[in-house]
Amino acid sequence: MLAIYRKYRPKNLSEIFGQEETIKILQSSAAEGKISHAYLFYGPRGTGKTTTARIFSKVVNCQKRQEDSSFFKKGEPCNQCLVCHQIDDGQALDIIEIDAASNRGIDEIRDLKEKVKTLPVYYKYKVFIIDEVHMLTPQAFNALLKTLEEPPSYVIFILATTEYEKLPATIVSRTQRFYFRKLTLQEITKKLELISEKEKISFEKEALEMIAYLADGSLRDAESLLDQIISLKGKKVTVDYVETILGKVGFMKVIKMAEFILKKDLKEALNFLYEINNEGHNLFQFNKDLTEYLRRILSLSLNPQLEKIFEKEISQSQLKEIKKQSTKIDTSYLIKVIKSLIEAYSQMRYNPFPIVPFEVALIENLREKE
Ligand SMILES: Nc1ncnc2c1ncn2[C@@H]1O[C@H](COP(=O)(O)OP(=O)(O)OP(=O)(O)O)[C@@H](O)[C@H]1O
Ligand SMILES: [Mg+2]
Ligand SMILES: [Zn+2]
Repeated sequence: MLAIYRKYRPKNLSEIFGQEETIKILQSSAAEGKISHAYLFYGPRGTGKTTTARIFSKVVNCQKRQEDSSFFKKGEPCNQCLVCHQIDDGQALDIIEIDAASNRGIDEIRDLKEKVKTLPVYYKYKVFIIDEVHMLTPQAFNALLKTLEEPPSYVIFILATTEYEKLPATIVSRTQRFYFRKLTLQEITKKLELISEKEKISFEKEALEMIAYLADGSLRDAESLLDQIISLKGKKVTVDYVETILGKVGFMKVIKMAEFILKKDLKEALNFLYEINNEGHNLFQFNKDLTEYLRRILSLSLNPQLEKIFEKEISQSQLKEIKKQSTKIDTSYLIKVIKSLIEAYSQMRYNPFPIVPFEVALIENLREKE
């Protein structure tokens, strides 16, 4: 395994993708030497929260920054000095990472409070990175609150969470907050391309876009999917591999079925469904992908401006097909089809022959023309 997500973990703030606002603010406050004592990084998984927290702990402690005033103004770590190296290697005594998911209780926070009291061993700042902070128990939150109220000048807290709503308002209000958004399909694809080039992986762009699509905004997920494919298939990433490995029926098949549905061609639609079933594809996934695809056709036909949003979620070639198909639709018919497919999906779950509800949904809607 390459463990791409480890190898390509950003080392500078400027290498964090997609979080421009956050990064700009962190850099300029570091450049001006205006450091807060409590930060909160929140947002969906795999978007750079922990990575940014680690880089920022290098920034505030980097030795070169303390010796070189023009470098200081960059608001970045040097990645060369002993401190930067130690932090990168996870060997830094003064950077304390706590996974709140497995250390939820009051004892851990008491322990933390003890550590807060003592001066940094070696660095300028002691940085406490508390990941998944929403998992703390109410008592632990209370204990943490007291510390957040008056932290010593040498302490910085960076709290990170995917579930902002679960944090007590009292905690939230004591932090400087930064939202980490999902990355767009293009941003993820771009990073996958960069990695592939560096690793001398040959790829079809469409295949990388497919991975990006499946990662649903999380760069970490995208990177580990790429890892998976490479470890099974070698340094070559094609649409075919991605489809087989990830168990997708394949986008071309979804387009084809959508076309039969839009033309109300029952015979072809059924033949095609049997073919897909006989090839051993996952019909649940196929139903889901088809529903999702038809839903995009429907909404795009009603509001062409959605194109701007879809652009960030699906690949160029997918969008092109959807646009083409959305020009010739019968709205109420398509609504009916989508509803039936959703219904069929839930029936498929309890059916020993999942193809049957799917088949019936097609017959119900497409037979009018016969
Ligand atoms: N915004 C980003 N820019 C560049 N790389 C990123 C970004 N987000 C994630 N990555 C990649 O994904 C890996 C994991 O990211 P990270 O651990 O920072 O995510 P996270 O937001 O903390 O996720 P979680 O909420 O699951 O803890 C990083 O090592 C990096 O390779
Ligand atoms: Mg994290
Ligand atoms: Zn340094």
